[in-house]
Amino acid sequence: MSRHPDRRGLLIIFEGIDGTGKSTQVRLLSEALRGAGCEVVTTFEPTDGPFGKKIRALFSNRASLTREEELALFMDDRRWHVNELIVPALAAGKIVVSDRYYFSTAAYQGAAGLDPERIIADNEAFAPVPDCVLLLEAPVKLGRRRIEESRLESPNDFEKEEGLQKVSAVFAAIKREYIHRIDASQSIEVVGQAVWALVSPLVAGRGRKGAPC
Ligand code: TYD
Repeated sequence: MSRHPDRRGLLIIFEGIDGTGKSTQVRLLSEALRGAGCEVVTTFEPTDGPFGKKIRALFSNRASLTREEELALFMDDRRWHVNELIVPALAAGKIVVSDRYYFSTAAYQGAAGLDPERIIADNEAFAPVPDCVLLLEAPVKLGRRRIEESRLESPNDFEKEEGLQKVSAVFAAIKREYIHRIDASQSIEVVGQAVWALVSPLVAGRGRKGAPC
């Protein structure tokens, strides 16, 4: 699905490997947009819908699925997300901020051996193309350290170092004019400023009366 003309909202996506600080930046950007008077829907993938729940249940035992079965689950979850949440929110003129979208499928399932460009094309057949993707980039080792420190747990099957090197390389190879790369090894504040510098021109003039959004 392209950026069709009757779409009134904005779709903003955070992507990157695990431990790059996506969820923190999703929260900070959502708060800043709300503060600017925008109506914001904050969301994430895998979702907490029926397929997302299945995916989470499989996290610690990824080997039980073939890569095609795994891809099918992420695609089902995305269809659910698009139909139930993203398309209605965009049609209502809201700003959707999501922690992950189909570039994660391209990068993670691509790293598992599937064709990333094919995955993107299959998603764009039904999923709205985002207005802005903020790709948070940081060394795999830094991401792992952050996961271990913040969650006090060992990384799950998606988060093993060798796999993440490949995921990171696929993310780096995806080029689109709306994908912006941000050095996520910087402080939360500096990354947040870089995000706002990219997003604020997109939202200018969209807010409720009198608001700068
Ligand atoms: P993650 O954002 O880490 O969820 P949480 O913060 O709740 O643990 O996502 C879980 C994992 O799922 C992550 O390692 C990346 C993986 N993933 C895919 O492999 N393909 C996809 O399409 C998506 C959305 C996620």
